[in-house]
Amino acid sequence: MSVETGRDSVTSKRVFIRTFGCQMNVHDSQRMQEVLSAVGYAVTDEPEDADLILINTCTVREKSRVKVLSAIGRFARLKDQRPDMVLGVTGCVAQQEGQRLLDRAPDLDLVMSPDHIATLPELVEHAREGQRTVQVGFAEVENYRFLQASEQGESGPAHGPTALVTIQKGCDNHCAYCIVPSVRGPEASRAAAEVVSEVQALVDSGVREVTLIGQNVNSYHGGEEPDPVDFVGLLTRVDAVSGLDRIRFTTSHPKDFSPELARCFATLERLCPWLHLPVQSGSSHVLELMRRGYSREHYLELMAMVREQCPDICVGTDLIVGFPGERERDFLDTVDLIERIQFDYAYSFKYSIRPGTPAEQLGDTVPEQEKARRLRHLQAVQEKITEQRLARWQGKDLKVLVQGPSRKGTAQLCGRGPGNQVVNFPAEGSDAARGDLVRLRIVKARRHSLLGEVMAP
Ligand code: 5AD
Ligand code: SF4
Repeated sequence: MSVETGRDSVTSKRVFIRTFGCQMNVHDSQRMQEVLSAVGYAVTDEPEDADLILINTCTVREKSRVKVLSAIGRFARLKDQRPDMVLGVTGCVAQQEGQRLLDRAPDLDLVMSPDHIATLPELVEHAREGQRTVQVGFAEVENYRFLQASEQGESGPAHGPTALVTIQKGCDNHCAYCIVPSVRGPEASRAAAEVVSEVQALVDSGVREVTLIGQNVNSYHGGEEPDPVDFVGLLTRVDAVSGLDRIRFTTSHPKDFSPELARCFATLERLCPWLHLPVQSGSSHVLELMRRGYSREHYLELMAMVREQCPDICVGTDLIVGFPGERERDFLDTVDLIERIQFDYAYSFKYSIRPGTPAEQLGDTVPEQEKARRLRHLQAVQEKITEQRLARWQGKDLKVLVQGPSRKGTAQLCGRGPGNQVVNFPAEGSDAARGDLVRLRIVKARRHSLLGEVMAP
C-alpha cells in the first residue's frame, strides 16, 4: 500500500493495462496483473487514474503495429498531467522494437517482452526510480518456466466462468508471412501435470470452461521421457478433471492435425464442438509459397474427417488475401474453398510485409487496391455463409454458459453455446446468473449472434 499524494485517502497503486492482439496476449495481461497485485497494485479501468500504464502489444500485421504506436502516443500525453506515472510497452512490439521504442518515445519508461513477466515488478521499480529499462529476448526453452495462473486472480471465477490456460509458448513453424516465431521465440511445451493441476485448481474455485492456448497446440509435447504426452494425451487428461464442464483449444495448424485429434471430438465428453483451424489460402500454389506444409486437398480432407466425427461442429478460419504471387485464379480458389467448407466464421486480412520474415524478400506484389477488392469480395461471400450457418440453430436448443449482461445492456444476458455461438436472451423472467449453464431455445438468428429464450423447467 502507498499513500497517494494529492488524494486524501490511503489507496493502493493502480495499474491500467491495454491489451492488443491474440489470446496469448490476453493471458499475458492477466499474469501481469497478478504479479503486480502481489506487490500492491490494483487494476483500474481509467488510464487517467493509473500510476502505471502498460500497453501489451501485437505486431502480427503492419496495421496492428501502427495501431499500437498511436496508442503509445495517446497514453504518453497523459504524462503531461501526471509526470510520475510510469508508462510501459510489453508484448510483441516490445520484442520487435526493443530500444528503438525508447528512442522514439521520450515519455516511455519501460519496454518488456513476454518472457520476462515474472520480473515486471522489479522493472517497474527501476522505472519509478527514473531508470528507463529495456528487457527483451527469450528465456531458454529448457529453463522456461510457465507462470501459474492464480485462481484468486484474473483467471478466477470472479472474472467469469471461463479461463485461458497456456500449454505452450513460442512457435517453431516457418510460415513465410509470419513474424510470430521471431517475436515469441522457439516453442516450449508446459508439463502436462502442471497444466492439469492448474485446470483442477481453476475448476475447484468455480471456473467451468477452459481454453487451452498455444501458437500451435497440435505440436504440444509435454511430460518427461519415458512418458511423453502429446496433445491428444493432454486433452484426454484435462477431460478427466472432475467438475470441469467444457474444454476448447486454439490455435491449431492443419499440418499437425491428426486423425486421433479429430476423433477426440467424438470421444471426449467435455471437448466442445468448436474448431479454429486457419487455412490462410485455398490455393495449393499459394500455400506452398506460404510454406504452410499442406495442400488445399489435404485441408478439405481434414475438415471432412472432423465433420465425420462431429457433424454439428462449428468451424472457423483465418485467411490472407494478396500474398505475393497470389493470382486471380488462386484467389478464386480461396473463394471456392470457403464456399465448399461453409465456415461458421472467418477472419480475413490483407497481406502486409513483416520485417525479417521469409516472405519479406518476395516483395508486396499485389497492388493495395486489388488486395482491398479481394478482401471485400471474400468478406461478402463469408458474411452470407455466416448468416446461413447461424440460421441452422433456429428452433433448436443450446446449452449456454452465461457470461454476464449482453453488450446492449442489462435487459439481456449473454453467453456462449457449445460451438462458441454468441447467444443473447432476456434477463427478465430468468434467474440465470453468470457462470450458470442454461438450456435455451433459439428463437432468432441475427447477423453475428443468436437470440434465445429460457426453456420452462
Ligand atoms: N499479413 C497479413 N495477415 C497475417 N497474418 C499473420 N501474418 C500476416 C501478415 N504478414 C494473419 C494470419 C494469422 C492471423 C493471426 O493473422 O491469418 O492466422
Ligand atoms: Fe499478435 Fe502474434 Fe503476438 Fe499474438 S503472438 S500478440 S497475434 S504478434
